Amino acid sequence: MAPTLLVSRRLPPVVEQRAAASYSARLNANDEPYSAERLLALAQGADGLLVCPGNTVDAALIGRLPASVKIVATYSVGFDHIDVKAAAQRGLVVTNTPEVLTDATADTAILLMLAAARRAGEGERLLRAGQWDGWRPTQLLGTHVSGKRLGILGMGRIGQAVAKRARGFDMVIHYSDIRRLGPAQEQGAIYHADPDELLGHVDVLSLHMPGGADTAKFLNAARLARLPKGAVVVNSARGTLVDDDALIAALKSGHIAAAGLDVYANEPHLHAGYRTLENVCLLPHLGSATVETRNAMGFRALDNLDAFFAGKPPPDRVA
Ligand code: DGY
Repeated sequence: MAPTLLVSRRLPPVVEQRAAASYSARLNANDEPYSAERLLALAQGADGLLVCPGNTVDAALIGRLPASVKIVATYSVGFDHIDVKAAAQRGLVVTNTPEVLTDATADTAILLMLAAARRAGEGERLLRAGQWDGWRPTQLLGTHVSGKRLGILGMGRIGQAVAKRARGFDMVIHYSDIRRLGPAQEQGAIYHADPDELLGHVDVLSLHMPGGADTAKFLNAARLARLPKGAVVVNSARGTLVDDDALIAALKSGHIAAAGLDVYANEPHLHAGYRTLENVCLLPHLGSATVETRNAMGFRALDNLDAFFAGKPPPDRVA
């Protein structure tokens, strides 16, 4: 008999078709954002869960999962919404979807860098409001990014893909990570063992660290103050990395010229202070939102589930 799989959100059609072909799949046809209680109720008798970043799988929920549930596959590379320690203690396998969203997310970081630096959001709002009075030499002057210094915090797959793209703009790459890359991967990028030390050397800062308690509010007032005046900040990783009050204050004072954000600490809610700021470009967590990538993420999650239920090690096991 096919294992029963609870799927927490509507997935792309080809992914749902494959899930329905291989599993007794409990799909979310109405794309209802399940509360913890609803998820638990629907998980009764399920063998596995396929969840998304919006589903908090914390120790409390893990403790209440029916004993039948043996695996949680998240439709994401980030897994800070899952308490992997609590999962491991309960013997619950957890998998994620690395690699397949590297390019789409790196593209989004570059999109945000350019949109913020070149004031694209302000320009679009001007046009939509019918307030554009024609070309003027001093209108909406932004910050040049070509040839500037890009600081990448977190030089994993996505950080490296951002660096590759930024080299196309002749940007000088600085990075920090817990480990220094080898020369072939580094490609001339300048390593800073101390991320705080990197901050004084960059014109654009792009965050690519994991979320979670260890990195919460990493970009705080003290670190923002270390960035040169006029720097641009990009976050396509996790909203929890940023102290929103501090970033909003820095954007208001002009110390930070502009920011591009795709992710927020308490999604889908964002700090109200961002809404009225012209110099921040806001996207609704679109990093991996391409048809190709979302299909690939679904297939990767199903590959992990298939392996697990076939008695093989899931390739992307994180707990
Ligand atoms: C992830 O996979 O972690 C992303 O945030 C979803 O795009």
